[in-house]
Amino acid sequence: MLDLEMPLPPCNFVIFGATGNLASIKLLPALYRLELAGRLPEGLNFIAFARREWDDETWRANMKEVLAKRAKAGGEALERFAGRFDYLKGELHDAASYMRLKEMLAKPKLGACSNIVFYLAIKPNDFPPVIKNLDAAGLSKPRGLHRIVVEKPFGEDIESAKVLNELLHRYFEEEQVFRIDHYMGKETVQNLLVFRFANTLIEPLWNRNFIDHVQITVAEDVGIDKRADYYDKAGAMRDMLQNHLMQLLTLVAMEPPPALEADALRDEKVKVLRSIRPIAKRSVHAHAFRAQYKAGMVRGEQVVGYQDEQGVEPNSVTETFAAAKFYIDNWRWRGVPFYLRTGKRMKDQLSMIAIRLRHPPQQLFRETPLETLEPNWIVLSIQPNECMHMEIHAKQPGLGMDTRVVKLNASYRNPEEPPLDAYEALLLDVIEGDRTLFIRFDEVEWAWRVVDPILKYWATEREFIHTYPAGTWGPHESNRLFDAEDTEWRNRV
Ligand code: BG6
Repeated sequence: MLDLEMPLPPCNFVIFGATGNLASIKLLPALYRLELAGRLPEGLNFIAFARREWDDETWRANMKEVLAKRAKAGGEALERFAGRFDYLKGELHDAASYMRLKEMLAKPKLGACSNIVFYLAIKPNDFPPVIKNLDAAGLSKPRGLHRIVVEKPFGEDIESAKVLNELLHRYFEEEQVFRIDHYMGKETVQNLLVFRFANTLIEPLWNRNFIDHVQITVAEDVGIDKRADYYDKAGAMRDMLQNHLMQLLTLVAMEPPPALEADALRDEKVKVLRSIRPIAKRSVHAHAFRAQYKAGMVRGEQVVGYQDEQGVEPNSVTETFAAAKFYIDNWRWRGVPFYLRTGKRMKDQLSMIAIRLRHPPQQLFRETPLETLEPNWIVLSIQPNECMHMEIHAKQPGLGMDTRVVKLNASYRNPEEPPLDAYEALLLDVIEGDRTLFIRFDEVEWAWRVVDPILKYWATEREFIHTYPAGTWGPHESNRLFDAEDTEWRNRV
């Protein structure tokens, strides 16, 4: 975990895909905020590697514009940050570009630095040439000092994930590889561990005796922006559910690790994934649901349907909404359904884990309005607001036997404490070499094993996909996943 006081080692940080969507939206703003917070060490240099015919000055001017827009950047901090950058015009597939990179890294200003981070903010198809070319240029060594950060999705199914992993291991040691899932850097996600394992109050309830079901929702109101070339091949299952939502599931369900160390934590996460009941081909319909957005209104604005987004294949059946039900067949969770759901162009931006507790065993209040008593919930909201609360019943003051739901609020951020972006925490971890919050290959592999049967089945259904109007919570038909009639998706914190 982060030691905020530890001085960071000097370092070169190469961003492949520096002009791309991920770099503009997430990476550069996060790195800038670290600059603003004084967390970037003096000697840290960045190299922006991209295809455009730019020089250092054009790159810096463009980056400043992006950051002014995305991170309200300006002033001295922005100048300092921009001053750390050199630009390298290069092609990901061209070996000569890597030789130029090597020369650049050997220049006096950069060459003094002991370690290099290579950040692959590029399309998954481009991972293999970059990995090979880095090695061919001698940049995969020295082992341990040079690190490579690989974004998700790691492969597009179990087979391709294995191939990619073998390729990485041919040229890099495992300790050099950082498989990033930025959800692991989100504050509520990390706080989930504290909530569960630092409070005696919670842990006794956290099992099939008390929990009716778990819902994990990551809903976005945004569409696919200009990412059709990637997204149309990936879809919501590969883009979000196999990684971000599965990671959340493992943290909700895992046993306490013996220590908060990288491998101890990851061992427990893998055990959860291994215990998920495999989904047989004939039961995919009962366990998974997919859909695609049509035109609609999002926050008062008319938006086009997925089929009309720029770059989407005609008649594409790529899902922009995916939902699934999983069972974890172990002592703690046997029989408790975990419902996962994610979608683009939904009504709101809402990411949360909602845990519904069982009804009390005795209907003591049968003849009263309490007959239809709402169950208790524990809600952990990840975004847009970070908060945690439990919903319990209390009697309304007065003569009748009426109740109201009272929220026991365990929110943990004071108004004067600014929220941290997930990438900020993880980027510092990369620089410091802390792999606790990064994904080990067996986690990736087991997560693919779980969703592969669904993807294989969907790949055979090429003619039809359910739809939902943009700006809604997705199609009602996804309710078919629920085991009990009184279950519905929770759409509010
Ligand atoms: C990325 C997905 O991993 O996560 C995007 O590729 C998605 O499609 C994004 O929009 C969501 O991240 P966050 O942090 O905004 O919830």
